[in-house]
Amino acid sequence: MRPHNTNKILFSASDIDARLDTLAEDLAAGCRDRPLVIVGILRGSFIFLADLVRKLHVHGVNPQIDFMTLLSRGSGVETTGKVIIRKDITVDVKDTNVVLVDDILDTGRTLNFAVQHLRDKGAAHIQACMFLDKPSRREVPIEADFVGFEVDDVFVVGYGLDYDSYYRELPHVAEVVFLDE
Ligand code: XMP
Repeated sequence: MRPHNTNKILFSASDIDARLDTLAEDLAAGCRDRPLVIVGILRGSFIFLADLVRKLHVHGVNPQIDFMTLLSRGSGVETTGKVIIRKDITVDVKDTNVVLVDDILDTGRTLNFAVQHLRDKGAAHIQACMFLDKPSRREVPIEADFVGFEVDDVFVVGYGLDYDSYYRELPHVAEVVFLDE
């Protein structure tokens, strides 16, 4: 890992909690008649998804929940550009509404791949709910239906997001400030 610190907090735990309340309200309002499957993309989505589904429960939303592990990044901060499936979902999504949940929408390659994959499995309607969005980094023309917060082009950690598998446990989101730049 490059020398860095994570002292700069962008979103506190209470900022996140308050934003998730409104996000869950918006998501619940859009839930349609068909069965709902929430698919989290591992590993970054695990904390966001866990908090989100408990807030959705308050609105009477009772989805099936599954996860898929997609890999697009090496151990550090760079994306490799190629998305591969390490672990697929096991729930049958045919004719269901799927909400894809991930930690961050960056180049868009991961989400684009996941949407295509679920379409191929016969999902009737697919929406994306991303905790963070870095619109300035987009390389694939794709947008999320629901976004927690927008961020600038900085590397962020916490609330599920990692640097070399560290910092996922942070209850807030912090910017990684590199000291060798
Ligand atoms: P894209 O949209 O480029 O996103 O396919 C791929 C994955 O890259 C990770 N990512 C980050 N992870 N801090 C992180 O911890 C970041 O600032 C960041 N930017 C992208 C993330 O896992 C995403 O799913």
